Amino acid sequence: MPLSLLKKNEDKNLKELITFLSFPSVSAKSEHKKDLKACASWLKDHLNKIGFKAKVCPTGGHPLVYAEYMVDPKLPTVLYYGHYDVQPPEPLELWESSPFKADIRKGYIYARGATDDKGQTWCHVKGLEAIIKKTGTLPINVKFLIEGEEEVHSANLPAWLKKNKKMLKADIAVVSDTAQFSKTLPAVTFGLRGIASCEVFVYGPNRDVHSGSYGGAIANPINVLCQMVGQLHDKNGKIAIPGFYKNVKAMSKWEKAKFKQLPYNEAAYKKSLKLQALHGEKGFTTFERTWVRPTLDVNGITGGYQGEGAKTIIPSMASCKITMRLVPGMDAKDICNLLEKHLLKIAPKSVRVKVDKHGGASAVEVPTDGPWLEATGRAIKKGFGKEPVFMKEGGSIPIVGDFKKILGVDTLLIGFGQQDDNIHSPNERFRIVDFVKGCKTAAILPDELASVK
Ligand code: BES
Ligand code: MN
Ligand code: MN
Repeated sequence: MPLSLLKKNEDKNLKELITFLSFPSVSAKSEHKKDLKACASWLKDHLNKIGFKAKVCPTGGHPLVYAEYMVDPKLPTVLYYGHYDVQPPEPLELWESSPFKADIRKGYIYARGATDDKGQTWCHVKGLEAIIKKTGTLPINVKFLIEGEEEVHSANLPAWLKKNKKMLKADIAVVSDTAQFSKTLPAVTFGLRGIASCEVFVYGPNRDVHSGSYGGAIANPINVLCQMVGQLHDKNGKIAIPGFYKNVKAMSKWEKAKFKQLPYNEAAYKKSLKLQALHGEKGFTTFERTWVRPTLDVNGITGGYQGEGAKTIIPSMASCKITMRLVPGMDAKDICNLLEKHLLKIAPKSVRVKVDKHGGASAVEVPTDGPWLEATGRAIKKGFGKEPVFMKEGGSIPIVGDFKKILGVDTLLIGFGQQDDNIHSPNERFRIVDFVKGCKTAAILPDELASVK
């Protein structure tokens, strides 16, 4: 039985995950280019070792790993997707153990990428391996795509999909890069928000100048940037950019009802973040605000002097990075253009404003019924011991929309993580029981998918 083999190999599988987690595969930073390459090569070797035909493919950016285990053209073909790149680990001083030396404590494995997305990807690799080892084959054809640029918008992947459309032909895609609803409720995710990214630059005097000599007579770029950012929301928490909401698709009755059925404890939510109060768009619940309403957030703001002691200057420039989460109907390019137009309009003449538009990805919605979903539900029920609930997520996985647009393939979003796994934060972690149940679910899923005609 594949499941008894998984049980026997629990320690070994975890040790291998620790090796996977030891590569500092931070896609955002060019200094880690070699580490991404090494991680891809290690993955390829591992997949080859367990019976796949794997290769490292160049993309123009960081490479991706592609592997196949083809059994019989008559069987369903499943495209598995994961990403081996991770977010920058900073601020390092807040980590209780080193981000790239995985540490196991109190039932968790701690490391950057533990859940997002090395740990979850590993569940499928190990689940499939167990079936291959026990039965000598798989009940489905598997195509495995593990990319290295998810955390930087998957900019090169759509072109690669287009170029390799034939090779990637599949009946359904499986992605484990989301979370369960809670520690007692596994979930299937039926929608993700999209994202649009911009960077804003505000230029003042041609050099930093003495804030005593010049202060009062010229605009301070940081002050102006803050004022402009401050105008991007109105007092009801709505985004004050003309046209921003024009294509926003309204929530369906079905989805509103589904969200209402999910348990929500506002006190616990606040407590988990040590907050006195929540904040958001008036008239919407927390689930609605984070899953089906668009947002605008500054991710970082820079300018002037931040070193030790005092430096009395008016800085020559200030900048910030802004991302907007998109919901169905909204287009990333369109939204970046609206933001740019609005910022240029509200900018005072005393500064020069420039907006770099980095684009993004659309929101995705995947089917909520049909035989693939039923098969997934059965696998989760067997793996986690409970029927999954339906939920959405506020985060984005850029390529999922392209699986549908370019390959014509729907995706099953099966999250094994938890909401408090600290993804993108210090002390990212994956619960060992979720890893074990994730592997188990992954070992059951192929049989269930094989039963779909
Ligand atoms: N795994 C996340 C997406 C996610 C986050 C799903 C939270 C469910 C809950 C993914 O790795 C991610 O972080 N995506 C980025 C994409 C961006 C950089 C284009 C995101 O959402 O910020
Ligand atoms: Mn991820
Ligand atoms: Mn991520």
